[in-house]
Amino acid sequence: MVFSLNSTPQIVFGSGAYQQTGEKVKELGCKKVLVVHGKFIKKSGIADKVVDTLIKEGIEVVRFEEVEPDPPDVIVERGAEFAKEQNVDGIIGIGGGSAQDTAKAINVLLGNPSPITRYLDKSIKMNPGKKLILLPTTAGTGSEANSVSVITDTKRGVKGGVIGPPCLPDLAIIDPDFTLGLSPSSTATTGMDTFAHGVESMTTILANPMGDMLAEKVISLVYKYLPIAVKDGSNIEARTNLSFAATLAGMAFENTVLHLGHAIAHSMGAICHIPHGIACAIATPYVIEYISDVVPDKIKVMGRAMGLDLEGKSPEEAGKTVADAVRALAKEIGIPTMKDLGIEKETLEKVAELALNDDTFGFIPKETPKETILEILHRAYDEA
Ligand SMILES: [Fe+2]
Repeated sequence: MVFSLNSTPQIVFGSGAYQQTGEKVKELGCKKVLVVHGKFIKKSGIADKVVDTLIKEGIEVVRFEEVEPDPPDVIVERGAEFAKEQNVDGIIGIGGGSAQDTAKAINVLLGNPSPITRYLDKSIKMNPGKKLILLPTTAGTGSEANSVSVITDTKRGVKGGVIGPPCLPDLAIIDPDFTLGLSPSSTATTGMDTFAHGVESMTTILANPMGDMLAEKVISLVYKYLPIAVKDGSNIEARTNLSFAATLAGMAFENTVLHLGHAIAHSMGAICHIPHGIACAIATPYVIEYISDVVPDKIKVMGRAMGLDLEGKSPEEAGKTVADAVRALAKEIGIPTMKDLGIEKETLEKVAELALNDDTFGFIPKETPKETILEILHRAYDEA
């Protein structure tokens, strides 16, 4: 078996890690950086704290504070124009997936011609950008550990991945203290995104021993600590373990890609406009059951990581046991159902159709026609 291992070359992790930002960015040779974030991160004081460490090291800072959810291409273009005008030699993204993906996409345009939507075509090779540094403030996407940037093509109204070297950070600084202010619902949804990354990276057609090792840890950490962090957001042990899991998951799927759960989640996000983590939580148990016949050993590993007893069970029974535990977890942490969200059952046909064209669709470990996806969605709708 041949597989590659690719991830962020330098990761600084732990409570208070952000204080090293200035020093580390200086080590990378940056003299003037663009700090990219949204309004919430500004209001929380996190952005200012990070900027202070940069100024202390004599690094000049300019700021781009226009990050929006589902990063629109027009915002990326504006940020890149500003970065070029200011002649920066580094981009620092602070925030959840949207801020990090915006920073990544801006960096693409510092080494490659506009428009950013051009690079949704994976066959176009990209030059490197400037130095890229990411500081996540949620524990979910794992964006800090991979070379994927998800942006929105506003003309076509679709989301897609820009994937390449300028999207892989040179440095990630993960400070779990930044996640202490997340609401219970954001904690729950981002955590279920991480969990889905674990389940899918372990079972794509590109699954490899390194990804398996990371994913097993991801599953056990999220299963144990997510309910604790949802109940008590100030529990730093739970927050630290969830941040760690999110980064490990990002490292895993950088090398394995994801599959059906994300094909469904991306499509549900585009059509039903629901948070990514909720869509992941809805899809994941059904995906586990669906693939249990082709990856029985992996299902056992998942069950073991969750402390479940699968002794003597057939692959399908084991799949159901693991899936039931995931459904119970989602319920316990307050993940809403499709009905709660007011989704009409009729829209699921469109979701299934769109899933067939998702970037992750080709990595499902068994052949999956549209009818099967629709069946999965109907079950998820009816049984919840
Ligand atoms: Fe995800």
